[in-house]
Amino acid sequence: MKITVAISGASGVVLGKRLVEFLKSDANKGKYMVHLIVSEAAKEIAGYEDVDLACVRGLADYCYDEGDIAAGISSSSYGIDAMVVIPCSMKTLSAIANGLSENLIDRAAENMLKMGRRLVVVPRDTPLSLAALENMVKLRTAGALIVPPVMAYYYKPASVDDVTDFFVGKVLDSLQIEHDLYDRWSGIK
Ligand SMILES: Cc1cc2nc3c(=O)[nH]c(=O)nc-3n(C[C@H](O)[C@H](O)[C@H](O)COP(=O)(O)O)c2cc1C
Repeated sequence: MKITVAISGASGVVLGKRLVEFLKSDANKGKYMVHLIVSEAAKEIAGYEDVDLACVRGLADYCYDEGDIAAGISSSSYGIDAMVVIPCSMKTLSAIANGLSENLIDRAAENMLKMGRRLVVVPRDTPLSLAALENMVKLRTAGALIVPPVMAYYYKPASVDDVTDFFVGKVLDSLQIEHDLYDRWSGIK
């Protein structure tokens, strides 16, 4: 499966890192080809949030900057199966929802929508503006799945890593990829 993972400039850059780590883990060896795009703002925020993006770049099969508009994945003919924008800034959300295709993230996402392929967007902001809410409706209507990193307490997270794994697990659920990143609710015993 060929997957594009785009890390844009919102808080929670670690979510994109964790997703790539999972997809390229030994347990998933050979299953996923990962194309990674990191926006300029995401690189800056990674510095603030103490996230080492160099090691994520080392894990991915292909890495791009947002300006690499001539990359293979800029064309729908490249044949990417699914794409995740994680985390997704309100700016990138707007660009994708409104078809701006100003950079490689927007363009690769547009390709998913126009080909009817799976696009998962992980928008991060709070509170949400009316524009952001409307852009999410537009994207959902266009076929994307909107998976905001929203906390749950029922599974009793003990650490920030647990919370991160829960969010990434929800993204994997949206891609129909099996995982054990969080314990599923199995009903009240
Ligand atoms: C430390 C920091 C945290 C930010 N967090 C968010 C955020 O959670 N959500 C958001 O929409 N924008 C956030 N921003 C603003 C975006 O980074 C900014 O709008 C940027 O232009 C997004 O660019 P990109 O979508 O091309 O990556 C943050 C900026 C900084 C410096």
